[in-house]
Amino acid sequence: MAAANIEVCSLIWIISMAVCEKIPDAYVTCIVSKDCILPCPFKPAGSEVIQWYRDKTLIHGFNNGSDMLDQQDEHYRGRTFLCPEQLALGNASLLLRNSGIEDKGRYRCSVHSALGDQESAIIAKVEAPIQTIYIASSSGFKEVTCSSKDIYPAPQLLWSTAPSAPFGALKPTTRKTANAQGLYAVESMQKRLGKLSDFTYVCTLHSYYGTQTWTASLREREIFCASGKELAIPCLIPMKLQIFTLTWTFTRANKSEVILTFHSVNQEISNRWQNHTRVDPDQVLTGNGSLWLQSLENSGTYTCEFSAFQSHHIVHNHVGFTGVKAATEGGNQSKLWIIAVVIGAMALFITGMFVCSKQRDNRTQLSRTTEDALEIQHMRTDEREKKPQANQQLL
Ligand SMILES: *[C@@H]1O[C@H](CO)[C@@H](O)[C@H](O)[C@H]1NC(C)=O
Ligand SMILES: *[C@@H]1O[C@H](CO)[C@@H](O)[C@H](O)[C@H]1NC(C)=O
Ligand SMILES: *[C@@H]1O[C@H](CO)[C@@H](O)[C@H](O)[C@H]1NC(C)=O
Ligand SMILES: *[C@@H]1O[C@H](CO)[C@@H](O)[C@H](O)[C@H]1NC(C)=O
Repeated sequence: MAAANIEVCSLIWIISMAVCEKIPDAYVTCIVSKDCILPCPFKPAGSEVIQWYRDKTLIHGFNNGSDMLDQQDEHYRGRTFLCPEQLALGNASLLLRNSGIEDKGRYRCSVHSALGDQESAIIAKVEAPIQTIYIASSSGFKEVTCSSKDIYPAPQLLWSTAPSAPFGALKPTTRKTANAQGLYAVESMQKRLGKLSDFTYVCTLHSYYGTQTWTASLREREIFCASGKELAIPCLIPMKLQIFTLTWTFTRANKSEVILTFHSVNQEISNRWQNHTRVDPDQVLTGNGSLWLQSLENSGTYTCEFSAFQSHHIVHNHVGFTGVKAATEGGNQSKLWIIAVVIGAMALFITGMFVCSKQRDNRTQLSRTTEDALEIQHMRTDEREKKPQANQQLL
């Protein structure tokens, strides 16, 4: 038994030795389109010959005080730099300009001097970090979409809700597509669960190497309210943030205006609607950005947004005032609406009266159509059920 174990172990050891050329001396993460430094420390002795390789291809050579680039690989042309002043200090680090996805891999730095050969192996990873996260509802909030782009490697996207949805209820469709540069765009769509305002939808993006986590959430709500009362438009976000900005905006007919902003750091409030709106700073700091609205009946969408580092939380409140009281800008619209309804009702009433009197005339003067006959039959049925006076009124 023990002997078998030893055999297995030595086999694994042989295989691993064959696979790995050399245990890397350094791991480096290069950021796409940024400069990257591949480290190579050595013991200086003067007049070194330096060669940098990517796998087996020469990407930079240095000899007798100057670069030797005639055998340099095409892909690295004009992108590699050694700092001669640093060489004297035992630093043969290679500066790689404008890193790209193809730059990931295994590098080797070889330093030849009077002290012999010194080698370093470097593993370079390449990453295009997540820079944005975008969440929105579409098709009248039948679905929620979450997206981001220009990311490498492809990130992981997860959905959750607050409160938690039943197990298995979330069935998003997620697409990850690479562009010509190899950078990924990710887009995910989740159908709305339940009624409009049942859930807050939370989208989380995890970068492949676990270096970043971005979160965005969205909630929609419809509010119908009577006029004349002070109204608290709710905005509760599913997590507590440390440093953030709260922004309330009002949107109607594609026009948006900022109503109020709040900065958590200095707790400074900028209020554009003056005495009509307010927030409670203590509540806001706990993730409750509810907006108090007073003596202002602007129907429209009130959007609350908490923005923080790698975190965005949006609540859309579609507010409609149903009261008769007008006088404010918002009130004008509902006043017009009421007038329209009244005119419409009157028109209907007049048309109805006209049709009725016409029908009465027809019944007395003309021969009965089938429809009339049916109607009369109905009336006869009614006669049996109702009192005679009522019937007279009906006829
Ligand atoms: C090194 O370069 C100098 C000029 O920079 C040249 O005079 C000398 O011959 C070169 N030596 C070798 C060994 O190439
Ligand atoms: C080595 O040189 C590079 C520039 O080529 C520099 O950025 C880096 O800090 C140096 N490393 C050390 C340990 O001094
Ligand atoms: C708002 O914009 C959308 C497209 O951007 C357009 O289809 C719609 O007609 C606009 N509505 C109004 C009221 O301007
Ligand atoms: C949120 O804050 C408002 C006042 O700003 C308050 O009326 C409401 O009760 C708060 N909600 C919660 C859940 O704390």
